[in-house]
Amino acid sequence: MFRNTKKSVLFVRLGSMVLLIAMVASLISSKASAAATTLGAAAALSGRYFGTAISNGKLGDSAYTTLAAREFNMVTPENELKIDATEPQQNVFSFTAGDSILNWATSHGMKMRGHTLAWHSQQPSWMQSLTGTALRNAMINHIQKVMAHYVGKLAAWDVVNEAYADDGTQNRRQSNLQATGNDWIEVAFRTADAVEPGVRLCYNDYNIENWSAAKTQGVYNMVKDFKARGVPIDCVGFQTHFTGGSSLPSNFQTTLSSFAALGVDVALTEVDVTQANTTQYAGLTQACVNVARCIGITVWGVRDSDSWRSGEAPLLFDGSGNKKAAYTSVLNVLNSVGGGTPQPTATNTTAPTRTNTPIVGATATRTSTPVIDATPVRTNTPVATTSGGACSPVTSTVTAPFTFDGAGTFCWQIATVPSYVNNWNNNAVSINGTNYTNIYVGSSSLPAKINGFYYISYNGSFAWSHIEVR
Ligand code: G3I
Repeated sequence: MFRNTKKSVLFVRLGSMVLLIAMVASLISSKASAAATTLGAAAALSGRYFGTAISNGKLGDSAYTTLAAREFNMVTPENELKIDATEPQQNVFSFTAGDSILNWATSHGMKMRGHTLAWHSQQPSWMQSLTGTALRNAMINHIQKVMAHYVGKLAAWDVVNEAYADDGTQNRRQSNLQATGNDWIEVAFRTADAVEPGVRLCYNDYNIENWSAAKTQGVYNMVKDFKARGVPIDCVGFQTHFTGGSSLPSNFQTTLSSFAALGVDVALTEVDVTQANTTQYAGLTQACVNVARCIGITVWGVRDSDSWRSGEAPLLFDGSGNKKAAYTSVLNVLNSVGGGTPQPTATNTTAPTRTNTPIVGATATRTSTPVIDATPVRTNTPVATTSGGACSPVTSTVTAPFTFDGAGTFCWQIATVPSYVNNWNNNAVSINGTNYTNIYVGSSSLPAKINGFYYISYNGSFAWSHIEVR
């Protein structure tokens, strides 16, 4: 009896050990099998996407489509949603090629980024010949019509592409769009937000990966200003074309995290690297996965032979569709972050909606009686306006400093009579203590009224003549 009891205890112990070994073995094997074997699946392990540029003309190439559908879960049309493709003649729109890519993407469970609504390049000839108000209105109409066609169907839009200069300054690029007024980017984003507030609205540019570069700082300051003033922007796309002397900067992660700290998502949107250098590919992937708000990576083409610079073999697959060393380096980084815990892919591919109203803190208590300044002294003679160019129609002309209690839109210009200066830079206009650099201030971006009035003053160095209110 005693011996039998000992025997059964022994059996129970042996059984437990076998069970334990089996559990450990199954844990090890499930950990090993959690490493993903495609770029899209590996990125999804940490809730990110991995995308590629797709060309509609190649959707008939089964080697191309099979490879793309296997590896990626995000698509950007390489050329099909550019302005010349979607609006070849003014107000005549063509979505056939874009729709074709979208259908292909959705039928393979992939999402799509829209590229791009406002850009100095790839403009149809009719747009290139426009200037001033006509061009501004054409841009607005283009954004409205193209976005309306794709409402609810895309994960993001590159609203504005490549608006900053490459001259070692923080300046905007000279272009016909820039010549319509410094506020063109802001207007593009506000227009886009009015059409579809729920889609991610992105600014996209190249050579802004290096945190020390003036161009990077120029874009950073614009995004910072937009966030401070409530201009609707959701993300910044870093094209990440490492070519022609440009290579992975050691501070790329600093750049991504600095932008993310402004309250925008960041993404690598057009990656390619000369000769597909493995260190740079691994490094750029690591920079993204180290930043929580870096939502995904897109390479600019599938195989080297599909690249816009195929001579540099800059992609992850060779012309025959074979995985290159850079592919493995990217996959390994993605898998190392995933930690073997699959995350749902779809959760962060849709833009957050701006549904909540910011909570205003406690009301400030006035501790001293405000002193009303002396009446402003007019130092030059106001010039009656006829037409304000982009400011027309003019409903009222006033002289600064002045107060105004109306709703609506301010539109101002300074005149060095008789020619108008279309830009008030250097924060020349102040409305209730907020400085503005733009010609127009829409009602949505005006500061709060003080005692029911806007107090407007002009601090610039030009001789001012008037402010127009429409
Ligand atoms: O489709 C026409 C074809 O019908 C014609 O015979 C041929 C003759 O040149 O041109 C073809 O169009 C070309 C198109 O690519 C499709 O291959 C255009 O000329 C050519 O300019 C266009 O180049 C594109 C370039 O943007 C300009 O828009 C590249 O494919 C595309 O990869 C490249 O992508 C840009 C991003 O949009 C923005 N960031 C930089 C990136 C690289 O330049």
